[in-house]
This record gives sequence, structure tokens and C-alpha cells, in this order.
Amino acid sequence: MTLSLQEFRSRFPILDRRVYVNNCSQGALSTDVTAAIGEYLASWHEHGSPWELWVEHMERLRRSFAAAVGALPEEIAVVPSASAGINAVASALRFDSSRATVVMGEFEFPTMAQAWLAQQRRGATIRWVRAEGDELHARSYAAAVGEDTLIVPLTHVCFRNGFKTDVEAITRTCHDRGALVMLDDYQRTGSSPIDVHALGVDFMVTGCLKYLLGTAGIAFLYVRRDLVERFEPTITGWFGRVNPFAFSIDTLDWAAAASRFETGTPPIINAYAAGAALGLLSLVGQETIGRQIAHLVDRFATRAHDAGHVVRTPADPARRGPLVVLQSTDAPALVARLQAHGVIASCRGSGLRVSFHGYNTERDVDAVLDALRAESALLVEAGARSAQV
Ligand SMILES: Cc1ncc(COP(=O)(O)O)c(C=O)c1O
Repeated sequence: MTLSLQEFRSRFPILDRRVYVNNCSQGALSTDVTAAIGEYLASWHEHGSPWELWVEHMERLRRSFAAAVGALPEEIAVVPSASAGINAVASALRFDSSRATVVMGEFEFPTMAQAWLAQQRRGATIRWVRAEGDELHARSYAAAVGEDTLIVPLTHVCFRNGFKTDVEAITRTCHDRGALVMLDDYQRTGSSPIDVHALGVDFMVTGCLKYLLGTAGIAFLYVRRDLVERFEPTITGWFGRVNPFAFSIDTLDWAAAASRFETGTPPIINAYAAGAALGLLSLVGQETIGRQIAHLVDRFATRAHDAGHVVRTPADPARRGPLVVLQSTDAPALVARLQAHGVIASCRGSGLRVSFHGYNTERDVDAVLDALRAESALLVEAGARSAQV
């Protein structure tokens, strides 16, 4: 069975009432996810403690996510947040005299920065890669990554301005110099296809609450198969063990699969939501969703630019994801004003963030543009660009 974009849209009740373009913060709630959460509650009511059923549900989710990103199930850890995945990997690294440098770009999400800055206490050195305005180029990484580089955390789409990183080029450079790459795909997964093996990254983190249309409290860590058993995370727990249900306490062991990066009791209710959302996305198809988003991003960015607004997201489709950012004089005030027009968007610093999913339509784009026309006093006009944050 496949779903058309129109049928997909009909699964999200909020879209009848609001123009929802805040997918970069939180995806909309579908009837499928609502039903799945109900199913979890019913299983709890009915059976009391059906842990075998719930653990099998987690395993199904692992398989579905692996299939969605071109990975093997044994390359996927199901974790409660991207931060948990990042820290489990960091805890397994040794920062020694041969390689102790973490090369980190300015467009990383703050949790990536926090986790790697904290590694300075364990011997890491941070080398920053600076942006040029709203762009952060592969050549800047090439100048920063050296034989001393252990790992390069790399956001795919920047949460602040929508810039899309050239992951393939940077990964090639890193691997040529013996450095690992950890992709943060959170601002992109679910918005178009991805094949982690083709991308070649060593690790990837992403989570469910944005374009994957699920809840907070569940995320994924991908670890390339041939790397899994080289790492022994010291941030660990019983679900990272060879057999959690052996309940032994006298040995330290780690599973042979990426589940070794897991820690405690998994977030089952969120797994039900995530499984339903992944199922729904697969009925539409990532190619179809990606095409629709690219079309809407193009329509919005082009028209916003033509209307004289400062578009901070690149005009080149290869260098942007599902998020378009406009420069505002007072972005929080603009977000509040847009709400009065029935438009739900968000902001970071001085940037208004408008982000699309496959359920959005050209009418949504035009409604946002109409609302922006009415609130244009809160937008920076081209030629009068103010200091960016
Ligand atoms: C790029 C990016 N990475 C990570 C996160 C969140 O990570 P965590 O799951 O640790 O809260 C977000 C947003 O919430 C994000 O935009």
C-alpha cells in the first residue's frame, strides 16, 4: 500500500486548523502515532508487564530504522536522545598523544559542542572550523583536519540557518587522514532519503521528534559495522550487554552489535510512537516526501527573496535541507505574530525558521508569505542586513 501526499496530510488533524511549518522543532502529531501510543497503553492495561512483547517491539523498530537509512540492524543502537548516543561513543574513545583532536564546526547543535568540549577533561583538544557568513565549506574542514584528528562531529543541516554540509567531501578528507566522522542528521532524517553506507560516515545520530514525526525520548545511533567491536563504551548499562536478561553482575561485557552503545531500560512508549511514524513515512516514501519538500523550500525561498527579505539559507538546492531561515529584527516577536495568523514557526537568534514536511502544500507556503507580508516590519529587508546571531 502506498499513500499519496494528500492522504498523508489527512493523517495530521492539526493541519486542518494551522499552517504548521515548525518541523525543525517538532513534527506534527498523526492519527497513526496517537493510535500506537493507545496500543502501548492497552498492552499495559491488558497484560500488566508484557516485557517480551515490548522488547520485541524495540527490535522491530531497530530493523525499521535500519532499513530506512540503508543500515543493518546490528549497526543501530536505540537510545533516549542524540546526546546519549554521542556520549556513549565519546566515552569509548581514547585521546592519546597520537590523536587527541576533535575538529568541530561552528554550525553544530549545542549538545554536540557540549559533549565534545567535555572531552577536554579526558585529554581531547578542540579545533574549531569557522564559518564564512552562513556557509561552512568543505575546504575549511580540509584545512583543519590533520593526522592528529581523532573525530569530526558534523551536522548535516544546520539548525540555525538551514545550511547543508558537504558530508561526502568532508568524510573523504577525514578518512584520508585517518579521522572518524560522526554525522548529526537530526535536522534532516525523515525529510528525504539517506543511505549511510553510501555516505561513508562512521557514526550517525538522529532522533524522532522532528521530521521522523515521533516523540521526544527516543533517538538512534548508527555505528559502521566494522567499527562496532573496536569500541567499549564506559557510559554503559545492562542493555549494552551481551545478554541483558542473564542478570549476572560479575563480568563486564558488551554486545557484539551496536546495541553495546545502549544503556538502561528502553523508552517503550516512545518506541511505539516511533514505529508508527516510520511506518507512515514508508507508506509515502522518502523520495516522494523529499521531492515535495524541495519544491516547497524552493517556492518559499525564491518568493521570500523576491519580496525583498534576507534569506540566510543558501539558494543552491544542494546546500540546503528542509529548513529556510529569514533574518528578522525581532524573531521571537515575529513567531508570536505569525501565531496570530495561524502559522506555527520558530526562531533561533535573529532567524525565523520555516521548515516543511511532505504534508505541507503550496497553499501553506503562500499562507506563510501572506502572513510575513502583513508583519514585514519585523523582517530585515535586503540591503539593510543587521548583525546576525
Ligand atoms: C541538529 C540537532 N542535533 C541534536 C538535537 C537534539 O539532541 P538531543 O536528542 O540530545 O536532545 C537537535 C534538536 O533538538 C538538533 O537540531
